[in-house]
Amino acid sequence: TESFIVAIDGPAGSGKSSVSKAVARRLGYGFLDTGAAYRALAWHVLDRGDDTADEAAVLAAAADFPFAQGLDPDDRLVHVGATDVTDAIREPRVSGAVSGVARVPAVREQVNDAFRRIAREAEYPAVVVEGRDITTVVAPDAPVRILLTAAPEVRAARRAAELDAEDAGAVAAALHHRDAKDSAVVDFLTAAEGVEVVDSTDLDFEETIDAVIAVIERRA
Ligand code: C5P
Repeated sequence: TESFIVAIDGPAGSGKSSVSKAVARRLGYGFLDTGAAYRALAWHVLDRGDDTADEAAVLAAAADFPFAQGLDPDDRLVHVGATDVTDAIREPRVSGAVSGVARVPAVREQVNDAFRRIAREAEYPAVVVEGRDITTVVAPDAPVRILLTAAPEVRAARRAAELDAEDAGAVAAALHHRDAKDSAVVDFLTAAEGVEVVDSTDLDFEETIDAVIAVIERRA
């Protein structure tokens, strides 16, 4: 049988990635972090010496993009060709460039097809697919669709702690700037019809995992 998709969307710093990974681990599901693909493509464009604002250069890089990502929640190495970019794609220079590649519609179509194929062929009962437009564009028919939100100041604080940043104000500014650019492309701040909202503002990590699992148990 084909595996089904648990679609989880949300803004930067909502806890999406860490919560999705923990949920997948607990339920024995696969985990696909779609932001990592956009980040790896941005890294690839920069590695080629190109500018992520140059749409033609982005399209050329996307056409020659040997990307690989594991679905195992405990082994999520990201490669571009033979290069392990798992850590490099989290660097601020990539975070600052990623919205540029993600706003190109042809790029989105290409990666979305890849996400659907990866989820369909996965050797897991289900795959938690996490991103910005999974509930609306990549998998609008998924049995479980969740929007994970949190208040902006809580998201900024979490991201600063995650990056071990000294300048929390700069982290907050970069995060809000990226959200603003991203929300011009896809709306991930309001839930589409049939999408359940899990607001983690007042929940700790374990409580958020439990809330997501409760939705899955109700819907799947
Ligand atoms: O989730 P993460 O912050 O790693 O995503 C990195 C970037 O990838 C986002 O800022 C956004 O530009 C892009 N993205 C997207 N659609 C997705 C997932 C990520 O446009 N489904």
